[in-house]
Amino acid sequence: MDILKLHNITFSYNEDIIIENINLNLKKDERISIVGSSGCGKTTLLKIIAGIENNFLGTISSSKIAYMPQKDLLLPWRNIISNILLPIELNKGDLNKGKIKALNFLDKLNLMNYAYKFPNELSGGMKQRVSFLRTIITESDTLLLDEPFSALDAITKEDLQHWLLDIIKDLKKSMVFITHDINEAIFLSNRILVCKNKPMNQLIEFKVKKNITSTELKELKENILKIIREG
Ligand SMILES: Nc1ncnc2c1ncn2[C@@H]1O[C@H](COP(=O)(O)OP(=O)(O)O)[C@@H](O)[C@H]1O
Ligand SMILES: [Mg+2]
Repeated sequence: MDILKLHNITFSYNEDIIIENINLNLKKDERISIVGSSGCGKTTLLKIIAGIENNFLGTISSSKIAYMPQKDLLLPWRNIISNILLPIELNKGDLNKGKIKALNFLDKLNLMNYAYKFPNELSGGMKQRVSFLRTIITESDTLLLDEPFSALDAITKEDLQHWLLDIIKDLKKSMVFITHDINEAIFLSNRILVCKNKPMNQLIEFKVKKNITSTELKELKENILKIIREG
């Protein structure tokens, strides 16, 4: 069953076509990555799915979605717990229930010591973990993540990739992940969609085998890279 389905999506900024006739589907518990060079329309596509850009042609059907933007800033004057509770506050949800949930998450993810700290007391990696918690605090089946680790150093990035995969599997969420890092896409996804052209008018699909051999991995990377370079 598709938990998200895009049919013939076309979108322009002013007169410029950014996305043309794109189809995409996501099944429950599936994780896909969209990779492609800068400016090919990845963020725009995610904003369309998130309902932030509405002026598109085509149809979208989806279950409940949570979106973490490319620059997801924590509010510096709020401590971590009240940053995480922000979406609940904005939706006028139950803050008491939300707080219990947020504290549970922080505890489960070994972040309890940070609950009452402020964003400027956290490292870049910690901030991204908190932003992610803020994204998953609302009920949702599908997470849309726009290059959440691109500003982090290599070691932190690798730690967070493992951290993310564990949580996503544990919470049984589906995911659309955007990155320009092919290794990251392969590690995190069941399927990779590569943006071939600008404007984005075709997504080339690669399946990631569960127990991929190093030879297959090398071949997969080369094939993806070739499409991005030719685009
Ligand atoms: N708000 C906007 N108004 C006009 N053009 C935009 C806007 N946002 C993005 N664009 C243009 O749309 C294209 C795709 O941008 P974007 O989706 O951010 O690409 P990516 O995330 O793949 O780097 C780029 O050419 C960019 O300049
Ligand atoms: Mg982008």
